[in-house]
Amino acid sequence: MAERRESIHGQWSGRWAFILAATGSAVGLGNIWKFPYITGENGGGAFVLVYLLCIAIIGIPIMIAEVMLGRRGRRSPINTMRHLAREEQASQLWQYLGWAGVVAGFLILSYYAVIAGWAVAYIFRTASGSFTGATADGVASIFSDLVSDPERLLAWHTIFMVCTMVVVARGVRSGLEKAVRYLMPALFVLLLVLVGYAMNTDAFVAGAAFLLTPDFHALFYQSNAQGVAELTAEPLLIALGHAFFTLSLGMGAIMVYGSYLPRQASIVKTSVVIALMDTLVALLAGLAIFPIVFANGLEPGSGPGLIFQTLPIAFGHMPGGAFFGSLFFILLAFAALSSAISLIEPAVAWLVENHGFTRIYATVWIGLLSWLLGVGSIFSFNIWSGEEYQLFGKTFFDLLDYLTANIMLPLGGLLIAIFAAWQMRRSSCRDELGLTDGLVFKGWYFLIRYVSPVAVTIVFLNAIGLLTF
Ligand code: PHE
Repeated sequence: MAERRESIHGQWSGRWAFILAATGSAVGLGNIWKFPYITGENGGGAFVLVYLLCIAIIGIPIMIAEVMLGRRGRRSPINTMRHLAREEQASQLWQYLGWAGVVAGFLILSYYAVIAGWAVAYIFRTASGSFTGATADGVASIFSDLVSDPERLLAWHTIFMVCTMVVVARGVRSGLEKAVRYLMPALFVLLLVLVGYAMNTDAFVAGAAFLLTPDFHALFYQSNAQGVAELTAEPLLIALGHAFFTLSLGMGAIMVYGSYLPRQASIVKTSVVIALMDTLVALLAGLAIFPIVFANGLEPGSGPGLIFQTLPIAFGHMPGGAFFGSLFFILLAFAALSSAISLIEPAVAWLVENHGFTRIYATVWIGLLSWLLGVGSIFSFNIWSGEEYQLFGKTFFDLLDYLTANIMLPLGGLLIAIFAAWQMRRSSCRDELGLTDGLVFKGWYFLIRYVSPVAVTIVFLNAIGLLTF
């Protein structure tokens, strides 16, 4: 019986612990590093609008479905899918959805740890006062010095990966839960401080307008390699992919956290809270960053280095900047850590369940392999950055990011929606969500059954060129 199933890995101490952990997974580099730079690359407000729509009508319903599957299965995503498929008399092939998630998480972690390493490096840079009074050019050259040095990147990448392994190895309660309890609220407060700084720059209105005023021309017409504006639907896929990435959906992270969720907690309410907090953090990060971009004549579309080239300018000029700056990067590194741990938790839980690995042993294996793959992403910023090392005009890092965030996660999410809405009995869903057959349930069921699958399919086919309007 589903009701009495317990996870062998333990349980969260309560609903709030789950909210904190899942928010810890959701809020990370995706919100503070990636959201601003892809918004900058895709023309601003219209991109934000599409992203918000994706969160509301696709992300939240799929998050509810993912937590629901996890709590019903009470195992690692691979075993959860296998058991639920059996219970619901669906094909055993569904377990491969769990597998795909494990692979996606492992691939994401490999480059995630590299970028998180930049954040760790910046803790020390900021604390040492390197940015005090620095100009935009000075800040940019400090950044390019860092990323062009593979040895330094490797050192920071290694440090971050080891921290991730230590936390995961300690297990659900003592490791994961404690780490996020104080860090998330602190990060939030610091972002508010940064927005406060941005408000005092002359370009606050310009920055806020860039983020919040939709300009669909800027979204759909983007310069190609020759600098000619071309009509493209790809930004829609990037917005969709980011909705999955930022909410940690489509690869089992939220599913495995759901499997540690106590039975009484309301899945719908918790999912909405998590998605709202995640979105708020991303918008605050945008509000802090774009005014600085415009006040200093920087390029919003300058790519993955955006926050590392903008925020240090603010820290270099505000009173107590070295202190606030290093605190900010400490918190960013912790936000990244609380996301990173959820990226390998599905794989670790599976190795423990099926192969009798101890948690520590499982973590070390997955961490090591992912660390090794990360070296490819490190080289993407220096010795492999040239065109001869690119495929489809993308570096190894770009390719991994594109493949995981824009393809694997939306496909994983699509299959989660299909399983929940078309393979599971309606009564099983209602039972697990603890809902009556009222408006909330009907609304969710409609979104997950029709809206999310159709929307993901259309955006997907369109972006890969199989469907044109
Ligand atoms: N949501 C995390 C972030 O925004 C990244 C992540 C993706 C974590 C997928 C787990 C699973 O940084």
